[in-house]
Amino acid sequence: MTVLTKEQLAQFDRNGCLVINDFFSISRAEALKSRAKELLTNFSLEGHPMTQFSTGTSNQQHVGDDYFLTSGNKIHFFFEEGAFDDHGQLKVSKERAINKIGHGLHILDPAFKAFSINETISAMTREIGFQSPQVLQSMLIFKQPYIGGRVPSHQDSSFLYTKPLSAVGFWFALEDCTETNGCLWFKPGSHKTTPISKRFVRDPEGTGTKFIPVENHSSSTADENDDEFVKCEVKAGALVLIHGSVVHKSAPNFSPTSRYIYTFHVIEGKAEYLSDNWLQPQDGEQFTSV
Ligand code: FE2
Repeated sequence: MTVLTKEQLAQFDRNGCLVINDFFSISRAEALKSRAKELLTNFSLEGHPMTQFSTGTSNQQHVGDDYFLTSGNKIHFFFEEGAFDDHGQLKVSKERAINKIGHGLHILDPAFKAFSINETISAMTREIGFQSPQVLQSMLIFKQPYIGGRVPSHQDSSFLYTKPLSAVGFWFALEDCTETNGCLWFKPGSHKTTPISKRFVRDPEGTGTKFIPVENHSSSTADENDDEFVKCEVKAGALVLIHGSVVHKSAPNFSPTSRYIYTFHVIEGKAEYLSDNWLQPQDGEQFTSV
């Protein structure tokens, strides 16, 4: 099976990102969006650490950290920063307050598992150059109307660090993504010029996470307002491939239109996966081969 053309592979290599329009059908996008909405509706606030963040003791912070750090093989719900008022109460309905669901949809949810782990994806990973590809996390990222948060400029390999670097993001538009509802913005070619200078690790002195510098690299100079960013507006059904070192970001959604996307990341199974990376295989499981 051949999925990507030579031109597409060359473009991905040159830009560090590649848009494949109409990769999946509108009806598939609608079905996945419905499933995402079902997850939002069915999830219960009871027992969720958000209920405990509001009182803010260190012990309760720890509960929140655990909820995040153990989410690799679970379906956990993470809130928008702007979702709470000063008293820790939700300002909007829970369905509108969730920023993302992660990080084990590709393991646990039948619809997203089938969409993620299949022959087409497997073929594409090999065309990109993977020998032993593994899906290590998946996320639904919502930018709900008026509340969807910005994602500051970053490189995915900071969060999914391997030696040598190998992470690639598969990013699927479940809805049209526009400048107004928070589409992606890339610095084309930055994967070749901007080294990974920091990585996101489990804090050995606490219960949470932090960034640490990567040896031999001075800190990154990625600038939010850099005019080299190019907007990446896509229609529902598009797949965007994202090189782990390409600098990208997205704006907040202050519009009345939501922006739902699904994404997962692949790393090379033969590369070294660092034991202090924030995301670790859970419960003795391995990352999912594709
Ligand atoms: Fe990213």
